[in-house]
Amino acid sequence: MARRVTKAVFPVAGMGTRFLPATKSIPKEILTLVDRPLIQYAIDEARAAGITDFIFVTARGKYALEDYFDRVPELEATLRRAGKNDLLEILRATNMESGAIAYVRQHKAMGLGHAVWCARRLIGDEPFAVMLPDDVIAAEKPCLQQMVEAHAGTGGSMVAAMEVAPDKASAYGILDVGEDKGPLVTARGMVEKPAPGTAPSNLAVIGRYILTPQVLENLSRIKPSAGGELQLTDAIAMEIAAGRPVHGFRFHGERFDCGSKAGFLQATVAFALARPDLRDEFGAFLRTATAMRMAAQ
Ligand code: G1P
Repeated sequence: MARRVTKAVFPVAGMGTRFLPATKSIPKEILTLVDRPLIQYAIDEARAAGITDFIFVTARGKYALEDYFDRVPELEATLRRAGKNDLLEILRATNMESGAIAYVRQHKAMGLGHAVWCARRLIGDEPFAVMLPDDVIAAEKPCLQQMVEAHAGTGGSMVAAMEVAPDKASAYGILDVGEDKGPLVTARGMVEKPAPGTAPSNLAVIGRYILTPQVLENLSRIKPSAGGELQLTDAIAMEIAAGRPVHGFRFHGERFDCGSKAGFLQATVAFALARPDLRDEFGAFLRTATAMRMAAQ
């Protein structure tokens, strides 16, 4: 029986240059999908999976992200006086118990592997999750929860996986698939951003991981690879090379790449259409806007 996963690492030190100028003064993770910052989706997913300890790997200029999880007593008092209990309820989901979040700083952008390694002292000898908030996954049962349940049976390390178009494989970590058992696959190898035409499969790693503490050890030994960066994928591949189990898990759900503008817009539309308070008005707008564009062509 695998040990319960209670800690999650959120690498949030990136500069978000793809969203400039907005990210000149706002961390990318605070950009809003409908009315909630990107990071809130990841936190809610982590909580649903039983995570109680949240470790943020941050960098300079990320104060807004740290403040976001603090209570705002003045605002709460004003809402209470005005009897706005619905808004107080919305705020409650953003509050974190004292001590539930820890922040560690990554002093230099050296890659995802390095960012996760920065959290090593806060993890200790237990399995832990890594969540990349750019990957937003809409699912009936939250993705990390699906993985935690599957991991209880497999142990070892596990990555979320999804088939991608062959011409997109070089943007991802790609699994070399061994045994394929439906949602679960055994990884025979893993390669970060393979050169076009060289990917071992079309099964890509998506930003949800459950890792053994051994991966942290591996992280201290890896050398820069794809993009000249220290890659998490390489540290996980070392587990496979050492004969320890690594599984890919094909999750149920729709993944949006909110690290790109097109993906962020698609997520915005999908999440707005899923909201009972917005669905009708926004859906009608989209239908009219699309019809007008088609007519103009
Ligand atoms: C990171 C990982 C990559 C993974 C991807 C998923 O890459 O390094 O293995 O496939 O996230 O979103 P990035 O998108 O940060 O370049």
